[in-house]
Amino acid sequence: MQARFAVLGGDGIGPEVTAQGVRVLNHVAGQFDHDFSFDDALIGGVAIDTDGTALPRATVDLARAADAVLLGAVGGPKWDDPTAGVRPEQGLLGIRKELELFANLRPITVFPALADASPLRPERLAGVDILFYRELTGGIYFGDSGRSDGAAYQVMSYTTAEVERIVRLAAAAARARLGKLTLVDKANVLEPSRLWRQVTTDLVTAEYPDLDFDVVLVDAMAMYLLSRPSDFDVVVTANLFGDILTDEASMIVGSMGMLPSASLGSSGPGLFEPVHGSAPDIAGTGLANPLAAILCAALALRHSLGLEAEAAAIEAAVHTVIDDGLRTPDIAAGGASVGTVEMTDAVIAALNG
Ligand code: IPM
Ligand code: MG
Repeated sequence: MQARFAVLGGDGIGPEVTAQGVRVLNHVAGQFDHDFSFDDALIGGVAIDTDGTALPRATVDLARAADAVLLGAVGGPKWDDPTAGVRPEQGLLGIRKELELFANLRPITVFPALADASPLRPERLAGVDILFYRELTGGIYFGDSGRSDGAAYQVMSYTTAEVERIVRLAAAAARARLGKLTLVDKANVLEPSRLWRQVTTDLVTAEYPDLDFDVVLVDAMAMYLLSRPSDFDVVVTANLFGDILTDEASMIVGSMGMLPSASLGSSGPGLFEPVHGSAPDIAGTGLANPLAAILCAALALRHSLGLEAEAAAIEAAVHTVIDDGLRTPDIAAGGASVGTVEMTDAVIAALNG
């Protein structure tokens, strides 16, 4: 198969880890006889520095023309001035919106050998396998906002169609997994949440009556992720709640450095980015964990190219290196560790069997 990847490394450790995802894809291309090409473009702080905008037009055009987009991370202290008119995050929010990537899939998969890296007790980790569907192009992130006279506001609003399209994807995923779907909302307080609850309940009743469907308030969900994380299968939620809960859920696994995500629309390229940020404190040290970016490469093969065997091979290789005891500092729990490139070398060696 021929496929074009747009590579948007961004800031901090973004380019370092994304380059490792590209190395693994190049290896897989050789191994499975595919023809992959890679084109770089700017996003985030580096784009502000060169172009004055966090999302240059050329980047959007390149991404649109690609089969899949690999993104690193954006942001850093250099661009943190709250009074600056332009922020790196605008690049990320902008590309999600431009490509209409309304569904952000964040799998929370526990690696048993990493139990030491998790703050939760090992017995709580057994059987945890959650797939979050975070709505990504609506809600308070994109609501009307402003300031006047020492006050500020930002509007949270959702349409029925916006809710339906992501709930349908989440429900279909639940049906293909354990058949459990959980809606997380704040319907006891927020009107948009009451719409989510009504639309989701109606849709599941009409189209997915076979699912074991339940509803949990977001504050309670924050507790349950720590007290009984293995009870959940597919979780669907609005943009802001999904942002917060998936950071919390990453700690179940032990490190954000392990978590990939896939952002999908109804057509066009998907975008694949680690859940972790740009980690400016370790940028350039060669110590960043490349596994989230490598797992993103696997998700790109699965969701944008339909190459399931190749995706599964990468995931198996990541499990092998973890089982073999390789650890970057974020998951080393104080023990011996390897660097970004060594970790990737080991994944490639594991792919070779
Ligand atoms: C994420 C990040 C982004 C978000 C930031 C960097 C804008 O936290 O992808 O979860 O809030 O969506
Ligand atoms: Mg976040």
